[in-house]
Amino acid sequence: MGETGRRAINRPWPVVSGPEVVIVPDEMIGGARAAAIIADTLSSAVAERGRADWATTGGSTPIGIYQAMLAPDARDRIPWRDVQTWWGDDRFVPGDHPLSNVRPFDDILLEAGGWESVHSDDHRGKVRIPVANVHPFRTGEAIGQGRSAAACAADLVEELRAAGLPEVDGWPVFDLILLGLGSDGHILSVFPGSSAFGSMRWALAIPAPTHIEPHVERVTLNPAVVTVAGRALVVAYGAAKAEMVGRIFGSDRDPRALPAQLVLRDGATWLLDEAAAARLPR
Ligand code: 6PG
Repeated sequence: MGETGRRAINRPWPVVSGPEVVIVPDEMIGGARAAAIIADTLSSAVAERGRADWATTGGSTPIGIYQAMLAPDARDRIPWRDVQTWWGDDRFVPGDHPLSNVRPFDDILLEAGGWESVHSDDHRGKVRIPVANVHPFRTGEAIGQGRSAAACAADLVEELRAAGLPEVDGWPVFDLILLGLGSDGHILSVFPGSSAFGSMRWALAIPAPTHIEPHVERVTLNPAVVTVAGRALVVAYGAAKAEMVGRIFGSDRDPRALPAQLVLRDGATWLLDEAAAARLPR
């Protein structure tokens, strides 16, 4: 993609120096706030460039967010026909496995029965998303065929290239990337000291971590995508994350040791509940 294509990516949020930090009283309000940011960002991208590409996250954080995305004010504002959904990372398990990062999206946000065509006159409280717009890592397929996590990541790279997202510095530009925060400071499946930092692949396999659960092999986008995404939204709740949030915002900066420090950038929003924000430096 040339310069012209790159300039066409408009940023509808104010340019600030460094991340915006939003502190909410609890997860319920956090979910609603995140859903509003997601709806705004996706609808603006569709209005500006005819489509939106976002990467969602795994773990427990998106559950309340997906629930809030079903509320009519968020649901009806997201132009799902033109929204392409990707995942920042996944565990190398089939999509219907309890550890899958796709399963909460499927179970909460979509009609029972999976991804179907959009019928705007028949929401029945949930959303319907064209199957062609949903781009998980094809873990189940790879596992079924006896192929490796690395091959699965390579398939995703091919799918991403075919989708023709704009690029900056050779990295695909998502309009929005939603991220949870690991208690060790990881984002995506990029753990402290990860070999992903030396990789030029858009997506790659990560060996099962031994220091943090679940101990399963992963597939992840390259952390560089977080630095070029139009908007990044990090969501963290609970006292157990407070110390890590404090370290991330502290004066020692080394994203290889604390990958979440990659998201201390303009165009990033950190959405924290009061417990997670308790040790933010003043
Ligand atoms: C994963 C992730 C990971 C997650 C954080 C936060 O697959 O484990 O995508 O980066 O977002 O570990 O997890 P919680 O939302 O469960 O706190």
